Amino acid sequence: MKISVFGLGYVGCVSIGCLAKMGHKIIGVDVSETKVKLINTGKPTIVEKSIGQLIKSGYESKRISATTDYKKAVKESDVSFICVGTPNSVSGHLNMNFIKSVSEEIAEGLKGKEKFHTIVIRSTVLPGTNKEVSQIIEKISSKKNLVDYCVVSNPEFLREGNAVDDYFNPSITVVASESTKGIKEIKKVYKKIKAPVAQVSVGLAEMLKFVNNTFHALKISFANEIGNVCKKLGIDSVELMTLFALDDKLNISKAYLRPGFAYGGSCLPKDLRALNTIAHDHYLEIPIIGNIERSNYLQKKYLFDELNNSGKKKIGVLGISFKEGTDDLRESPILDVVERLIGKGYKVNVYDENVNMSNIIGANKNFIMNKLPHISSLLYLDIKKFIADSEVIIINANNPKLVKLLKASKSDKIIYDLVYSNELKKFKNYRGINW
Ligand SMILES: NC(=O)c1ccc[n+]([C@@H]2O[C@H](COP(=O)([O-])OP(=O)(O)OC[C@H]3O[C@@H](n4cnc5c(N)ncnc54)[C@H](O)[C@@H]3O)[C@@H](O)[C@H]2O)c1
Repeated sequence: MKISVFGLGYVGCVSIGCLAKMGHKIIGVDVSETKVKLINTGKPTIVEKSIGQLIKSGYESKRISATTDYKKAVKESDVSFICVGTPNSVSGHLNMNFIKSVSEEIAEGLKGKEKFHTIVIRSTVLPGTNKEVSQIIEKISSKKNLVDYCVVSNPEFLREGNAVDDYFNPSITVVASESTKGIKEIKKVYKKIKAPVAQVSVGLAEMLKFVNNTFHALKISFANEIGNVCKKLGIDSVELMTLFALDDKLNISKAYLRPGFAYGGSCLPKDLRALNTIAHDHYLEIPIIGNIERSNYLQKKYLFDELNNSGKKKIGVLGISFKEGTDDLRESPILDVVERLIGKGYKVNVYDENVNMSNIIGANKNFIMNKLPHISSLLYLDIKKFIADSEVIIINANNPKLVKLLKASKSDKIIYDLVYSNELKKFKNYRGINW
């Protein structure tokens, strides 16, 4: 395929080398004469493992060239990749000026071009950019989106230092566009790459890179904080984190990565507090770990605020134990919300098939008697009556019986879902806690 690549920095240079290696004919574009000259003498614009050889062989086989003439580049290609920089502005916002100028340049190049053109956004951009790029192009070129051209979002996940290998072996290729033709084109570009292709919504593709990089930064800083605590205790932190990473069921896994409600239970809150206290005793600041509890508190507060603003007074809570399939009420996060609602004069109804007050004993009983001594008066045994008496139903546990009853009664009650129930999503007054 004939591909123009706008921006010959890190991502652009790796892209032209790898795309040429896959057999495409590449024309690189940059505002920097120096970078264009480098490429046109068969040299890379960056220092990176294997890239020198790729650019050299691409140049020698005439599959790679570069220019500052953006109109020519658009006219001579079917697909244009946008790989320009998106640095932070002084305020920390992402500066999208280069994206705007390159969109204007592509639009100029499209004027008078007959063939369909696919524009691929490879740079990390703010949600909404795909649409903005498309609008700029439509306005300047007078071409029609989805008819004469289309915009595809295709975020780049390479790591500097391992960029070429990452380019050829990504875990996943993410593509998003309103145009089926555009999706077909991008799949053709990556035909030789074995990774699975995830076709997703544009917003998701635009947001993903921020989430990835934030998580990577979080992992690094989490490991650093653990390392700092371990050093104070004379424990080998590298050995500890190696051991930690061996648990691919709970630690390095999908577990606990689903958005939803606050955590609770008899272990997480207690042990987190204990670790914070160890650090505190050694005069050590661990701000990430130290703020987890605050984040958890806010998750409960957001739910309370939403309920408080709902205008309804009778709140039903389905599931009060700290997680589904247990009767353990210790530090169950929903109980904090229930407590606040009662304090504010709400009528709270509770239904939980696992919680039978006459069977609750030991530490579990002590906890609940301390927290909500009159819990028994809130509990319903009859789910139908529970539904009938509640204007809002908070779903804190999956319950097929409830779904069936709500369906049968064509209920228009407000459903507040904390567990992501596909069944309940279809209801009219459905609200997800953070989806
Ligand atoms: N560097 C990485 O490891 C990496 C990895 C994944 C994604 N990204 C993202 O990819 C994008 C590019 O990053 P980078 O590190 O390659 O940036 P970079 O600063 O190295 O390169 C950007 C290039 O774009 C050129 N440019 C600017 N305006 C132009 C225009 N109007 N026409 C043509 N060229 C123009 C610049 O001269 C520069 O050569 C960013 O959004 C970045 O966040 C970077």
